[in-house]
Amino acid sequence: MARIVLLALPLLAALLCVSADPNVLFKEEFADGDDWQKRWVQSKHKEDYGLFKLSAGKFYGDAEKDKGLQTSQDARFYAQSARFTPFSNKDKTLVIQFSVKHEQNIDCGGGYVKLFPSKLDQSDMHGESEYNIMFGPDTCGPSTKKVHVIFNYKGKNLQINKDIRCKDDVFTHLYTLIVRPDNTYEVKIDNSKVESGNLEDDWDFLPPKKIKDPEAKKPDDWDERPKIDDPEDKKPEDWDKPEHIPDPDASKPEDWDEEMDGEWEPPVIQNPEYKGEWKPRQIDNPDYKGKWVHPEIDNPEYTPDSDLYFYEDFGVIGLDLWQVKSGTIFDNFLITHDEKYAEDSGNQSWGVTKEAEKKMKEQQDEEERKKQEEEEKKRKEEEPQEEEAEDDDEDDDEEEDREKEEEKEEDEDEEDTLQKDEL
Ligand SMILES: *[C@@H]1O[C@H](CO)[C@@H](O)[C@H](O)[C@H]1NC(C)=O
Repeated sequence: MARIVLLALPLLAALLCVSADPNVLFKEEFADGDDWQKRWVQSKHKEDYGLFKLSAGKFYGDAEKDKGLQTSQDARFYAQSARFTPFSNKDKTLVIQFSVKHEQNIDCGGGYVKLFPSKLDQSDMHGESEYNIMFGPDTCGPSTKKVHVIFNYKGKNLQINKDIRCKDDVFTHLYTLIVRPDNTYEVKIDNSKVESGNLEDDWDFLPPKKIKDPEAKKPDDWDERPKIDDPEDKKPEDWDKPEHIPDPDASKPEDWDEEMDGEWEPPVIQNPEYKGEWKPRQIDNPDYKGKWVHPEIDNPEYTPDSDLYFYEDFGVIGLDLWQVKSGTIFDNFLITHDEKYAEDSGNQSWGVTKEAEKKMKEQQDEEERKKQEEEEKKRKEEEPQEEEAEDDDEDDDEEEDREKEEEKEEDEDEEDTLQKDEL
């Protein structure tokens, strides 16, 4: 009996190599072909969810390693999720990490994950399903390019009060959220810190600690004027002079005919002695008390909570999002208690393939450019005499494109609102 157990142990460890490290709660790198479909569940809440397919995309650093879940249909909602052994982050650091590649040059769409409690019915996951944490990039038009960090607290979804910009290029980027049991947090992009702080300051978990004393009121005789009119200063007797006077140098023209031209009046000029409105000199106000500051009191509504970071139960990670132009690849999902492990894991995945990915993209762009050059050349050789007429056509096309672009942006704005409502 003992021998069987001994023999079985290494095998078991190999099979469960992920769960073997108690600090790794979920890891998904899509390294086993179509088997991901056994681990991920498609929601049936709607009938027309977009399909994820396994792909490394049009350009990549490593054809195998860079395979991830790619959105494959435009203008669709997506809803896939995977379950893991339920855990709580009580007294432990929680790290959520994954990579996102918007190789389609995304116009409008989500690139975030949601962590749900284990009670979630995956086959019915949808935009309103209650989650614990939502984290990751969200893009819509030129105005929305941000990283969401949303915590569910007592049934309410709280957005971060800071603006964290997400990446808006076509390459793979690593997004990491760290939440620590001392109620501090950190957001990293590509293994570099982009934001950090503490939960109480950067989300409206709790009402403010201090409020303005509702009993306090500025005394009626509180003088906030630093300067006053000098009571000693009096307007000089000869101050008031008209602003305009008849020109003393003007004289009636000799050929002026009163009967024909009417009574002669000299032209009016600015009076050089006019001093404008008199204002008394300003002196320091002897009664000045400074600006009145509304005294604050402890907010009776405030109760500290040292467990803002804490969730009893995590059990499912999900991609629940909307995309206009599809093509985003999600990969390298990791949930762990170990910050260092996550960083190293990011280095081993995103860190290893990012340079080669960039290179392949540059090569493709270069080839594309050459191809277009050739085609242009060929076109010109074939129809040299029609060049002028064609130029005009091109101008029209450009204008049309611009109009289309504008329409598109308007659409995007609407979609932005849609997404917000979903939150
Ligand atoms: C990850 O890579 C960066 C940059 O090469 C390096 O500074 C850092 O120490 C690495 N982290 C780990 C945990 O190996």
